Amino acid sequence: MATIFTIPGSLRSGSSNHNILKFLGTLVPDGINYTIYDSLATIPPFDPGLDNDTTPQPVAELHRLITNADAIIICTPEYAFGVPGQLKNALDWLVSSGTLVDKPVALITASSSGEYAHPSLLRTLGALSANVIEEACLLVPFIRARIQDGVLDDELKEQLESAFESLLKAL
Ligand SMILES: Cc1cc2nc3c(=O)[nH]c(=O)nc-3n(C[C@H](O)[C@H](O)[C@H](O)COP(=O)(O)O)c2cc1C
Repeated sequence: MATIFTIPGSLRSGSSNHNILKFLGTLVPDGINYTIYDSLATIPPFDPGLDNDTTPQPVAELHRLITNADAIIICTPEYAFGVPGQLKNALDWLVSSGTLVDKPVALITASSSGEYAHPSLLRTLGALSANVIEEACLLVPFIRARIQDGVLDDELKEQLESAFESLLKAL
C-alpha cells in the first residue's frame, strides 16, 4: 500500500496548517495510507556530531517514517520572515541520511504571507535532492481569513484538491 507522510510545520493547537492536512486526508483514495506526523516537537536540536550511529531515537524514527513513505507533504506557516525553527531543524537532520533523495514532495506554505519561507524551503528541499512536484506546491497567503472554525473556504479546497491530484499522479 502506498503511503503519504505529512509534516505540519506548526505546533499550534488548532493550527490552520493542521486543518489543511486534515482536509487533504479526506481526499485520500482507497489503498493509500495517509499519516500526519505529530512528533515534530520531540526532534532535538540538530547536532552534526550526533548525526551518525548515535542518531537520537526521534530522529531515527523520522528517518524510518520518511524512508517508508512514497510521497511527503510539508504544510507550514512562516515565522519572522523565515521557516519555523522546528521544521528547519528536522530538515537539517535529514541532510546526511539522504532519506528525501528523489522522494516526491509537495510543499504547502499557508501563512499570513509566506513569501520568504516558501522559496527558502524550496531551496532546502533542493539541497536534500527531493523530487519537488511543482504542480503539487502551493503558497496560500492570508490563511487565517480562509479557514473559519476549522472549515476551509471553497476556493482553497479547490486549490488543494488540484495540488493533491498532482501529487497522486507522481506516486
Ligand atoms: C511569532 C510569529 C511570527 C509570525 N511571522 C510571520 C511572518 O513573518 N510571515 C507570515 O506570513 N506570517 C507570520 N506569522 C503569522 C502566521 O503565519 C499565522 O499565525 C499562521 O496562522 C500560523 O500558522 P498555523 O495557523 O498553522 O499555526 C507569524 C506568527 C507568529 C506567531
